[in-house]
Amino acid sequence: PGLDILAKRAGLLYFGTAIDNVVLNNSAYISIAHNSSEFGQVTPSNGQKWMYIEPSRNNFSYSMADAIVKPAIRARQMRRCHTFVWHNQLPAWLEGGNWTKAELTGVLENHIRNEARYFGNGCYAWDVVNEAFEDDGSFRDSIWLRVLGKEYIELAFRFARKYVGRRVRLYYNDYGIERVNVKSKVVAAMVKDFIDRDIPIDGIGLQAHFTVGRAPTYDDVKAALNLFIPLGVETALTELDVRIQLPDSLEKQALQAQVYANSTKACMDVGDCVGVTVWDFWDPVSWVPETFPGYGNACLFDDGLKRKQAYYAVSDVLRDD
Ligand code: G3I
Repeated sequence: PGLDILAKRAGLLYFGTAIDNVVLNNSAYISIAHNSSEFGQVTPSNGQKWMYIEPSRNNFSYSMADAIVKPAIRARQMRRCHTFVWHNQLPAWLEGGNWTKAELTGVLENHIRNEARYFGNGCYAWDVVNEAFEDDGSFRDSIWLRVLGKEYIELAFRFARKYVGRRVRLYYNDYGIERVNVKSKVVAAMVKDFIDRDIPIDGIGLQAHFTVGRAPTYDDVKAALNLFIPLGVETALTELDVRIQLPDSLEKQALQAQVYANSTKACMDVGDCVGVTVWDFWDPVSWVPETFPGYGNACLFDDGLKRKQAYYAVSDVLRDD
């Protein structure tokens, strides 16, 4: 059985993958990507980001996202939608604009309203705000922070709740929060504050971009997930991958497999961690080599689309439950 079948048997809602547009013409890849026994959930890696959705002001374009979302619907794969508000991949008209607070608030609401209505209530979850904090817990600089102040985060959640259906989970998503540290504590404090003040938030996405040799342990990930559970929100591992410093070796692949398995197991063992999404499953299309020269092979399937040790380790850990 595929990973999603095993994940559901183990009590998770899904095991999923991100899919990017660059690989849509590869039929061997696509037959795995949209095989719902393997991946019961799909996240578009890029197509739902601002620069592609609203390339010029109030002009919306859904074709990139649709190329991934529509086949996912046909394959009955759940969708995690990604992402309304981020500091990255913004169009020049937005990032270079000289906005007043009122104008930018209007731009934000208009974007969320249109994108939310287009994708309807078809998303299981939306990453409403992505990566708003630095590793030291301070607010990350962005056009949002500069013009709207830190309240842009709650504003985005309020707009999201206004325009997506009640059943769609609203997530805050970030990296580096997969252990108990300054950053994960700051995110937990934000969740608590939101809940105290009735600002809608349903989930925390722990991205889980890891490196062999420096990855959090099973206990680390479990402890981080447990920071959020008492606050009454669900969690998910939303972008799991485990990069290797090249050259690759069987030993490094074995360590990589352990990190994949430990992370998946931590989610399985914590109530309200609903699922695991890998940030693509195929080494050649991973974001890693471009961003971290000298690193790669971060995924579950190798160049020849063959399953790696990491794949079997995840499969085994899901079966063990
Ligand atoms: O759109 C242009 C296209 O016009 C051009 O022809 C092509 C040439 O290389 O580049 C295209 O842009 C690329 C874009 O992905 C779409 O493919 C960018 O160069 C590239 O940098 C961009 O990378 C994406 C990255 O986010 C941007 O920061 C990755 O694919 C995507 O996997 C990655 O995803 C993020 C999550 O959204 C948030 N968490 C971290 C994660 C990894 O960085």
